[in-house]
Amino acid sequence: MNGQSVAASTRLRGQVHVPGDKSTSHRALFISALANGESTIEGLSPGADVRSSEVIVSQLGVEVEHHGTLVHVHGPAGGLRPSASALDCGNSGTTMRVLAGLVSGVEGEHRLVGDESLSARPMDRVARPLIRMGATVEGVGDRVTAPLRIHGRSTLRAIDFHVPVASAQVKSSILFAGLHADGATTVREDARTRRTTEEMFLACGIEIESVERDEGRVVTVRPGRPRTTAWRVPGDPSQAAFFCVLGLIHDDADLEILNLDATPERTGFVEVLRRMGGDVLVEHTQALSLRARSSSLLGVEVHASDVPSVDEVPVLAVAAAAASGTSAFRDMGELRLKESDRFEGSLQLVRRLGCRAWAEGDDFFVEGLGSARRFAAFELDAKLDHRMVMSAAVAGSAGQGCVIDGAATVSSSYPGFFVDLAGLV
Ligand code: S3P
Repeated sequence: MNGQSVAASTRLRGQVHVPGDKSTSHRALFISALANGESTIEGLSPGADVRSSEVIVSQLGVEVEHHGTLVHVHGPAGGLRPSASALDCGNSGTTMRVLAGLVSGVEGEHRLVGDESLSARPMDRVARPLIRMGATVEGVGDRVTAPLRIHGRSTLRAIDFHVPVASAQVKSSILFAGLHADGATTVREDARTRRTTEEMFLACGIEIESVERDEGRVVTVRPGRPRTTAWRVPGDPSQAAFFCVLGLIHDDADLEILNLDATPERTGFVEVLRRMGGDVLVEHTQALSLRARSSSLLGVEVHASDVPSVDEVPVLAVAAAAASGTSAFRDMGELRLKESDRFEGSLQLVRRLGCRAWAEGDDFFVEGLGSARRFAAFELDAKLDHRMVMSAAVAGSAGQGCVIDGAATVSSSYPGFFVDLAGLV
């Protein structure tokens, strides 16, 4: 394999500033595109995923300019217009799913395409509600995979929709379409997924209400046009999870990860790591900061609802591999539908480290080795999945090194990851 080598590190110290939150960044671009006039975004994610969203809003008639760390987004007074060329979402599921809702409210034809990984991911979960709202959404096969052809309408039907899977992307897609509906649109979720869209809609003057019910939430949005806004994007907690696990499983580490988004739906991984016996200090002043120090971890039981969106599960599986005892990861079916099949990918990764690991239905189990220093040196194909790259790198750095094939895909969310990792000495 001709991949990226990660060396075992002897000592890890330092502070990490992870990139701007990806979820907030996409939405800041989309909301600003809908506003009339100039919004600004401070701290936009530098990843290729968010870059895809940026190029797409430009194609829809929005002016975007970068001045240092500030991005100026000028939403056209007359609203967005369809692009003659395809809207390329690259590797980004959030771009494709949320954009589908956004362009459903833009009169005319839109073509959405993606890379090989994105073109295999199900879009029926957004197509179904958007079709009920009056848009035409066509894709390939039963799961409505990309390329998608969407015919948008300037006025959509308001609906009351129960989202059958825990997905912030689906919820957000409907909420964006709801801005163009003929009345109040309601989205019901059984598990509380990240509330980024809800909070950002509130911040720009959209009437939106969210009520917690049982384990879930009912969100109602009224049609409206967002106000121009000065957005500040906090650090991405899902990126912080990689350094947090690294700090805990490495046998000589003390790492701080600064300025993170602190919403509870994003920081469930911290609670899981603490339950494992991890020494994670949480400081919460204006933003959240974490400090992770070498710890002896114990096996744990993790349910998908502990880490909604399950983005942090592959790296938690690496933590489980370093722990003493067996960890159980329950109800992890959604992992199979991410940038790669992360269910299989996580099993494969921990097996390469030398662990016994097995699946039972949508659950999987990892028998820990008791220390990351017992990890084997390994090679892994990242399969166009940035989070598998970073999970493997954490295991290699704390263990005996690794080689990652397809590591360049890390740039979809965190182009500076390997530089930041190498800086921790
Ligand atoms: C995201 C939602 C999650 C997450 C993704 C970002 C978002 O996906 O995995 O990285 O910004 O809404 P799902 O909605 O599929 O859980």
